[in-house]
Amino acid sequence: MQDEEIIYEDGEHKCIIFSFDNEENEESFLAVNQYLIIQNSSAILIDPGSLSSYDELYDRVSKHIEIEKLKYIFYSHQDPDVAGSIGKWSVSCGARQIVSKQWMRFMSHYGLMNYNRVFPLEDKGAKISFGKEYLQFIPAHFLHSAANFSLYDSRSKILFSGDIGASITKEYGANTQGLKFEDMKETLLNFHQRYMAGNKFCKAWVKKVREHDVQTIAPQHGSLLSGIDCQKFLSWFEELECGGDLIDRYY
Ligand SMILES: [Fe+2]
Ligand SMILES: [Fe+2]
Repeated sequence: MQDEEIIYEDGEHKCIIFSFDNEENEESFLAVNQYLIIQNSSAILIDPGSLSSYDELYDRVSKHIEIEKLKYIFYSHQDPDVAGSIGKWSVSCGARQIVSKQWMRFMSHYGLMNYNRVFPLEDKGAKISFGKEYLQFIPAHFLHSAANFSLYDSRSKILFSGDIGASITKEYGANTQGLKFEDMKETLLNFHQRYMAGNKFCKAWVKKVREHDVQTIAPQHGSLLSGIDCQKFLSWFEELECGGDLIDRYY
């Protein structure tokens, strides 16, 4: 099943969430959110996901903008639920594929052959202009992937945070807006304690994020966190013990 919702719109600039789950394989399929930002005639697609969601996402995106007008496709990290379809997207449109330079050598295993249109991100990230505003790629390394970025859209003030802020629930994306931080705390805790590498990285990321006026955190799984819930999440994540901080649990 697939759902979509406009999460920001001001007449010129629009952000859309697409959410996929699989009712037939509810237990084994991880529900994901994908995002599209459009400003006038250019667009960026964020974390398009696996091969199995490619056809449906392609149709959904093309209802909003001609696929040829996609300027960029951004992959926050290398996981299959993020980048599994990179080979397909690289031949179906002329968009530049933005991915950490650390993952470039692995992408051929997803079927990516044409590296001419890949925009490799350096570890410190990058700022690119997008319409009248900018997009900032913020380092999120080891949270959870070893080379990982969040994306801040200066117009909508939404931070597309990849797996940070993700909660694994039966609900998915657009259906879960309106959940409060407190409602999500337990699922957030389970996910982040196990999948994030350690508090040092959480602190470094929150510090970078706070350089920007972030109003909403839009993760790759689960609900969006807006306003006060966004601030509560940042304060919680900044102090979270996870990964290596809990090493005795795992060894
Ligand atoms: Fe991931
Ligand atoms: Fe993920």
